[in-house]
Amino acid sequence: MARITASVYTSHIPAIGAALDLGKTHEPYWQPVFQGYEFSRQWLKDNRPDVIFLVYNDHATAFSLDMIPTFAIGTAAEFKPADEGWGARPVPTVIGHPELASHIAQSVIQQDFDLTIVNKMDVDHGLTVPLSLLCGQPQAWPCPVIPFAVNVVQYPVPSGQRCFNLGQAIRKAVESYDEPLNVQIWGTGGMSHQLQGPRAGLINKAFDTAFLDQLIADPAALAKKPHIDYVREAGSEGIELVMWLIARGAMADVAGGKPPRVAHRFYHVPASNTAVGHLILENS
Ligand code: DHB
Ligand code: FE
Repeated sequence: MARITASVYTSHIPAIGAALDLGKTHEPYWQPVFQGYEFSRQWLKDNRPDVIFLVYNDHATAFSLDMIPTFAIGTAAEFKPADEGWGARPVPTVIGHPELASHIAQSVIQQDFDLTIVNKMDVDHGLTVPLSLLCGQPQAWPCPVIPFAVNVVQYPVPSGQRCFNLGQAIRKAVESYDEPLNVQIWGTGGMSHQLQGPRAGLINKAFDTAFLDQLIADPAALAKKPHIDYVREAGSEGIELVMWLIARGAMADVAGGKPPRVAHRFYHVPASNTAVGHLILENS
């Protein structure tokens, strides 16, 4: 059977993608950000998955305000980097895994989560920046990726509890796939940030630190945090953090297994308008 071996959590700041694409990673502003991911790039080489299940949010790129799925699973064979207004990022096309994605769709929908099935979609910075942070600038991404888009842009957004429960359903789905695949689940977005209005530029380090602590140690309690707390304390875009609970819900301890090992933890302010947060948790 397939199994989830690790979860990775990271911010997806678009300016990080631009810094990489424009060769600015060694500039004093960006150097500490990329340094925080040096461990992770080596870790991914040493722990190369067969498939990455990548939870992210689309930023009105593939889904305009015309149509807004709460949870959407990418079942296509490939996904092109999106043009977000400055041309598509010069990064590889994302190769999907239609067989595993279709199996997960079947299993998770039968576990009573209504997923939207997406057979054609371009992927924006929410998906490509995390890949760039952990893979650098390869000719091709190291493995197939299943994009899983969550609506955290247009209210109403899903609760942390719903996301945590969904992660548990995704774990069951992966474990019922009849091929010995090593699957990683990535949760992206965050940390505290607000991009508009009078509170634009908000960063809340105390909130972010407590979120990381609780995500590691007591995710079931963290899942109970109401969305209004994210908005009040972490800013309007801080709500992206509920996506981390999907990845955390898919870890072994939530299903009665051993607690995960913290392979890496990183936090840095500032990068563009946000705090950068990053965690790697391994199932033992
Ligand atoms: C920024 C962060 C985001 O998560 C995003 O989607 C867009 C912009 C920023 O920090 O500028
Ligand atoms: Fe975002």
